[in-house]
Amino acid sequence: MPELALPLSEIPDGGCKLLQVSERLKIAVFRVGERIAAINNRCPHAGGSFAEGEFDGTIVKCPMHSFRVNVWTGKGNAGKPVATYPVTLTADQVRIAVPD
Ligand code: FES
Repeated sequence: MPELALPLSEIPDGGCKLLQVSERLKIAVFRVGERIAAINNRCPHAGGSFAEGEFDGTIVKCPMHSFRVNVWTGKGNAGKPVATYPVTLTADQVRIAVPD
């Protein structure tokens, strides 16, 4: 599985950074201190951007129709879970394993 790498400092603490992985895949990367979560940015309801939603440290709310998803588990308040991607943090470098 390929990896993306970026410095921890590029992700705002308590916030999110959006990564364009390919034409079809964007990953929203959330940070709380040294905990990092990476989820598919596309809301399964109608394609809203989670990176633009409100984030409380656990739940991000889709800005379009308020679907809520736990960024640490990918579980939402309706429907199928949102894809999550494995993250490792070493020496202030964040690595995210992305699908081929
Ligand atoms: S597109 Fe996200 S809740 Fe509708």
